[in-house]
Amino acid sequence: MYDGDIASVLITEQQLRDKISEIAQKVDSDYEDVHTSDLVLIGVLKGAVMFMTDFARALGRSTQLEFMAVSSYGSSTSSSGVVRILKDLDRDIAGRHVLVVEDIIDSGLTLSWLLKNLESRNPASLEVCTLLRKPDAVQVEVPVRYVGFDIPNEFVVGYGLDYAERYRDLPYIGTLDPKVYTSGR
Ligand code: XMP
Ligand code: MG
Repeated sequence: MYDGDIASVLITEQQLRDKISEIAQKVDSDYEDVHTSDLVLIGVLKGAVMFMTDFARALGRSTQLEFMAVSSYGSSTSSSGVVRILKDLDRDIAGRHVLVVEDIIDSGLTLSWLLKNLESRNPASLEVCTLLRKPDAVQVEVPVRYVGFDIPNEFVVGYGLDYAERYRDLPYIGTLDPKVYTSGR
């Protein structure tokens, strides 16, 4: 699959599995006292889909799954912080304990907007769980409770993350060979 397109494997399948069960155990204990029907995971489409499904199944408890799709105005490679909701939640989150499940935080602008938006709906609590975090994210004032991996400032694909809608189905996280950017496929 994608032979030759991946320059290096950054995080293996096994490392993903181990980290996800580690985070799941923390979440299980942190939310021990929260009633099942009150814990809602919100996955941000499409990048967080693989992480969301594996994470939800790694939890030792049942949760409700919600998805949102947002699009950031601006160029395709940098986000502007101005966000449009493409798909909103199906249910009200007022009074519920919300955990936002993200694939990656880069500038943090998208997340910062999303948190303000969700906060205005009056959840009982609002926390963030991200699989990956890039160095620029430290500049952002958003509290991220659970982080899988801090990664270098490189463009990564796989396990939900795409380049031009490709590579989401790779089972690991890797960096792209520069020839992919230049071949125009
Ligand atoms: P912020 O607002 O935190 O944007 O700058 C985060 C969003 O940018 C995308 N993104 C990436 N997507 N590989 C990807 O496939 C990457 O290395 C990468 N870095 C940022 C992604 O959509 C994320 O939600
Ligand atoms: Mg995303």
